[in-house]
Amino acid sequence: MATSLADEKRYLSEVAARVDEILDRYLPSDDEEPRSLHAAMRYSVTSGGKRLRPILAWSAYKYCGGKDETAESSIHPAMAALEMVHTFSLIHDDLPCMDDDDLRRGRPTCHKKFGEAIAVLAGDALINLAFGLMGQTGSAEAVRLLSDALGTGGMLGGQIADVEAEGKAVDRDDVIGIHRKKTGALIRASIHIGAVLAGAEETKVNRLSQFGEKVGLAFQIVDDILDIEGNQELLGKQVGSDSKKDKATYPRAVGMDTARKDAAVLIDEAVALLENDENNPLVGIARYIGQRQN
Ligand code: IPE
Ligand code: IPE
Ligand code: MG
Ligand code: MG
Ligand code: MG
Repeated sequence: MATSLADEKRYLSEVAARVDEILDRYLPSDDEEPRSLHAAMRYSVTSGGKRLRPILAWSAYKYCGGKDETAESSIHPAMAALEMVHTFSLIHDDLPCMDDDDLRRGRPTCHKKFGEAIAVLAGDALINLAFGLMGQTGSAEAVRLLSDALGTGGMLGGQIADVEAEGKAVDRDDVIGIHRKKTGALIRASIHIGAVLAGAEETKVNRLSQFGEKVGLAFQIVDDILDIEGNQELLGKQVGSDSKKDKATYPRAVGMDTARKDAAVLIDEAVALLENDENNPLVGIARYIGQRQN
């Protein structure tokens, strides 16, 4: 029997709770010096969030037969690392010199709460911690995948393209290029790393990576759609932020109807790569990404 969206939400919240425990284990205590920095790191990481990247890594790991579920399991530090890198990207993305946003995960953004200097350094500290944790997996391949996803050919390349495209005319290919890098690369790498840590064979790793490419792009298209027609309470961030900065968004390039259609096609293609197996949690996550409201 196919898994329903309600089943999928239950699965997501169960794995998210596990992610929260893992993060708490690896984050420095805010009783330790430098307290202000540790407090800011904890504030941003533990303020909720869907935990999608570690959930994807975990789900790919399990799908590929990854077994060890103990605290020492190599997937645990990898999951923490992925969420820390993601949280770094949110803290810096919200800074006045970037998207200049005041609300994140339903709370004041890190720089609003702690000031810009601490927010910049909290982001830096999270990346540094993340690479140390990815190293703890013992997989040089996992470290390389994280570095590539984050680097100038990945998230950072996408973020600079996003900033430089503000106020300019963009077409579909331009936006796809930006979105694949700024958001898709880390989502794809999360799945890839999960598969690699489970020791999956190459054809399976490649298929999962293609799956990640499609859901990663769809994820950012939906993010752009929600910035226009989402609910601020549910999203925990301000709607209309993209139009305020005249951002290169998918709906701006192709219109809302095509944006919706393209996201749906990407999800269908991703699901087909996993043989449309509705019992596979990764398929459920792909469906959720297409339909999410937050
Ligand atoms: C927001 O990511 C930033 C993008 C890459 C679009 P998420 O929508 O995954 O944010 P959280 O982690 O749930 O807060
Ligand atoms: C963010 O894209 C991508 C990264 C943080 C790398 P957005 O700027 O659209 O994300 P939100 O909407 O602020 O979460
Ligand atoms: Mg941005
Ligand atoms: Mg932003
Ligand atoms: Mg956005």
